[in-house]
Amino acid sequence: FTVDIDQADADKGTYPYYMLKEVDEQPAVIRRIEAKYLDHAGNIHFDQALLDQINQASKLYIVGAGTSYHAGLVGKKLFEKFTKTPTEVVLASEFAYDDPIIEDQAFFIFLSQSGETADSRQVLVRVNDEWQKPSLTITNVANSTLAREADFSATLEAGPEIAVASTKAYTAQIAVEALLAVAMGREKTNATAVNFDITGQLSKVANAIQTVVDEKGKIEELALATLRKTRNAFYIGRGLDYNVALESSLKLKEISYIQAEGFASGELKHGTIALIEDGTPVIGIITQSKTADHTRSNLQEVLSRGANVITMVSEDLANSTDDILLPVVDEMLMPLVSVIAAQLLAYYASLQRGYNVDQPRNLAKSVTVE
Ligand code: G6P
Repeated sequence: FTVDIDQADADKGTYPYYMLKEVDEQPAVIRRIEAKYLDHAGNIHFDQALLDQINQASKLYIVGAGTSYHAGLVGKKLFEKFTKTPTEVVLASEFAYDDPIIEDQAFFIFLSQSGETADSRQVLVRVNDEWQKPSLTITNVANSTLAREADFSATLEAGPEIAVASTKAYTAQIAVEALLAVAMGREKTNATAVNFDITGQLSKVANAIQTVVDEKGKIEELALATLRKTRNAFYIGRGLDYNVALESSLKLKEISYIQAEGFASGELKHGTIALIEDGTPVIGIITQSKTADHTRSNLQEVLSRGANVITMVSEDLANSTDDILLPVVDEMLMPLVSVIAAQLLAYYASLQRGYNVDQPRNLAKSVTVE
């Protein structure tokens, strides 16, 4: 006899939604990336022709949309730190029709989970036909359009991502960017790159992500207490924490339909703080030692205007009143840890508000129109 099994449900195993499964998979994704790009001696493996070519660049462009764009913002800081190459991150849909001044020695990095986003492809068409510059696509789909049409490609090793809200592709993109940046920097004998223990750090990251994933219950309670009824919310942070704030607010918008804004915490006082009312949720991300005190002051400013503050803080910067403690990894890689808490907050907010987490209204997993 035959039994009808919904294939999708079978793949989900015991998980109610793909998103939760994909959030949980992230430690394994980091380990797969380590296995793919690192050997036991700690050497990083990318196509040598790619490293030769990209290291001639006087300027890197990172092109992406949505969550991939946000992973690019973190990538800029990684490439600049480890390779000292000026890097610009651009929104594909804007850049495709801008009139940029492209340097002779420009190199383009495309970030795309699907490898099929039409806006990004439109930029790649110009890179190939009009500007004739070398390019790399970093994607989860090895034979995708963007992978085929760029000069080089590198895979994310994240496994199929089914939920519309991207989670493990974002962390995989940042991990691969970090590996590429350190590999480039080593070839340039940049001291910061040479001294960076990428193998040890990525292992720490995998463990740290696991610790946050294991804190689900706590994060679910925080979502219930602050996000279930609210109309709006803010994520604030500085530097890399600001970059994660943008991705965190996108997650919240996509699946819980809360009007959420990611904001540079120091910029709030220049206008946007007017929106803070009694009970407005403001989630502060604090993982960067240089700016931790500043963001704390900014949280005080919103607290005194009645905000409902949640803090996500690296353990070494935390105090006893913080809500979510993040295990410590190198500060450059803290986005890989803090974003997990934000993904889970968005997941529970969506669930508690009664929505279909995996299939949010109006959204598609891969957008093949411009
Ligand atoms: C869509 C998806 C987003 C994704 C964006 C870019 O809008 O809903 O989750 O970040 O496309 O997709 P890509 O496949 O290029 O990373």
